[in-house]
Amino acid sequence: MKRVRTQAGIVGAGPAGLMLGHLLHLHGIDSVILERRSEEYVIERVRAGVLEQGTVDLMRESGVGERLGREGLRHAGIYLSFGGVRRHIGFEQLTGGRSITVYGQNEVVKDLIAARRASGRVLEFEAEAVRISGVDSQPRVVYRKDGEECEVVCDFVAGCDGSHGVCRQAIPEECLRVYEREYPFAWLGILAKAAPSSGELVYSLHERGFALFSMRSPAVTRLYLQCAPDEDIEDWPDERLWGELTARLSTVDGWRPNRGDVMQKGITGMRSSVVEPMQHGRLFLAGDAAHIVPPTGAKGLNLAMADVRVLAGALENYYRTGRQELLNSYSDRCLRRVWQAQRFSWWMTTMLHRAPDGNAFDYRRQLAELEYVTSSRAAMTALAENYVGLPLE
Ligand code: APR
Ligand code: PHB
Repeated sequence: MKRVRTQAGIVGAGPAGLMLGHLLHLHGIDSVILERRSEEYVIERVRAGVLEQGTVDLMRESGVGERLGREGLRHAGIYLSFGGVRRHIGFEQLTGGRSITVYGQNEVVKDLIAARRASGRVLEFEAEAVRISGVDSQPRVVYRKDGEECEVVCDFVAGCDGSHGVCRQAIPEECLRVYEREYPFAWLGILAKAAPSSGELVYSLHERGFALFSMRSPAVTRLYLQCAPDEDIEDWPDERLWGELTARLSTVDGWRPNRGDVMQKGITGMRSSVVEPMQHGRLFLAGDAAHIVPPTGAKGLNLAMADVRVLAGALENYYRTGRQELLNSYSDRCLRRVWQAQRFSWWMTTMLHRAPDGNAFDYRRQLAELEYVTSSRAAMTALAENYVGLPLE
């Protein structure tokens, strides 16, 4: 069996695994990144695209923010739309100059793959980790590449393998607690070849359900509609989609999303989950492997980045000083932020979606909440500081 030795074995080349590999490289720590999918697949899959201030700062400070600085769209706030009116929440005034940047997750991944190539360290695509062992003493990751089994022997394993990965299974069930919540709706998302008709995102609560207006570039609009979790995409031809988006997003001042060719369509379910603790022996979980948030607060990618920032710092400290305190407190330090993000994502989701069994009382209560959130400076500040991201430790 082919065997390689490294300091950190990283499973998964999503944003979490790639950023961790990058930060470790900057600290002079070697790693091997294994990814079961192809490079094209990883770059092209369509995901979220809102970066918190802290994620932008991390990319800049670690030397992968050059294209982000040129092509990222900095947004000073968002709109909340209800009752036919759009109300603006300005983040910069409410948070002392912090804001968000729209830059597709696939662009982040492209930049990190380029940095990995430049580092000369190992990144293997189409290499599926099938077994993690020895996490209490001498970790080993067995993976399959071109039909052959190979092995990475390492000091630590980073499970950055997303919500369906294998790393979590290496933790004995009795050592884990999983907290979960399902939502009774899903998002139907499209990418359209259309210039965004608003410079900032619009989150809308309409009698017919939630809708979101977002974008990827000056020529591409990203739009979402609340739908049933078991909805069939075939039932949504373009005409029906545009009709529903227009109905849920248009406001009385005449604003509406521009239409264009639909380049991609998909349905995503919504759930919240947290695995505690996020570590066991020499195995550390990061990103979606440890927690899932519903997309309404745009926190998934940002949480993944915050986790690996903490993990890279703890590993750097260990290799420099031999001390384990920061490694031992990894899970506790990450989980504080994770639960804040879970609370915020749950709150945004329940405020903005219509429950399938929701009654008229609930809808009126949601409208009252939106009225309050867009008129009280205290309430707007609470939304703004969570949306741009609570301070990193
Ligand atoms: N072996 C190797 N790679 C694996 C394995 C395995 N057994 N199982 C899963 N992977 C890979 C997946 O193919 C995927 O590329 O791990 C990667 C995990 O990446 P992401 O799912 O992007 O998760 P993460 O890096 O934590 O990023 C979180 O992604 O899901 C979105 O909304 C979420 O934006 C957030 C971000
Ligand atoms: C997106 O642009 O894909 C997006 C924006 C905001 C969200 C979720 C997704 O809350």
